[in-house]
Amino acid sequence: MKKAILVVSFGTTWREARRTCIAPVEDELFAAFPDRAPARAYTSRFIVRRLQAQGEDIPGEAEALEALRAAGCGDILVACTHMIPGEEYERAAALAEGCRVTRPLLDAEADLERMASLLGGVAREEGRPLVLMGHGTDHAADGVYARLRSKLPEGVFLACVEGSHGLAELLPALDALPEKRVTVMPLMLVAGDHAHNDLAGDGPDSWKSVLEARGFDVRPRLQGLGALAEVRRMYVEKARRSVDS
Ligand code: CO
Repeated sequence: MKKAILVVSFGTTWREARRTCIAPVEDELFAAFPDRAPARAYTSRFIVRRLQAQGEDIPGEAEALEALRAAGCGDILVACTHMIPGEEYERAAALAEGCRVTRPLLDAEADLERMASLLGGVAREEGRPLVLMGHGTDHAADGVYARLRSKLPEGVFLACVEGSHGLAELLPALDALPEKRVTVMPLMLVAGDHAHNDLAGDGPDSWKSVLEARGFDVRPRLQGLGALAEVRRMYVEKARRSVDS
């Protein structure tokens, strides 16, 4: 039977973010399954259309699955790079019925513990408290962010740009820090629109501006999680587990 691996991401229109945060994850997954034909897809309709208009053809997940099935692939491993089991993940998983589908990055307790300790390492590297911007959602999976927050080490803070855990929740704890300096970083696969605008942009509502207005020295770390080797290992391990189970 013909076998394939389809790596499914939300996607981004930021070329640099694709190069540094999505492509390395895809490449590592492809390399881990050399017996499977490699394929990629993005779940964001908006991003797929925008890229197409620029002459870059990355299909949506439905189209990619259809092409693989039409090519006679009966065994498709769908490796999802989504953070949480939210709307985008659920839709991809439903379309991939009958395939092996990996769980999102932040799912089991062990995933959250591993992420929490990894983020503690980033804070140590930065030498200052770390404020993370998760995406957040109105979907029930928003609760994953609260679960992760409860596991974060001292000096690591998490809020979301959407959903019910906004930056305001963190301000009392941040204002109580002994030193007024923080690093801000996206808790997302890529540093794309949210990272460059909502997190570190110069507009009055960006987290950087809000924190600066409260007297903080804010250092933006515009790096998506896909650039971290440990995160890529987590994806490969999840993919291996869905093949072995
Ligand atoms: Co968004």
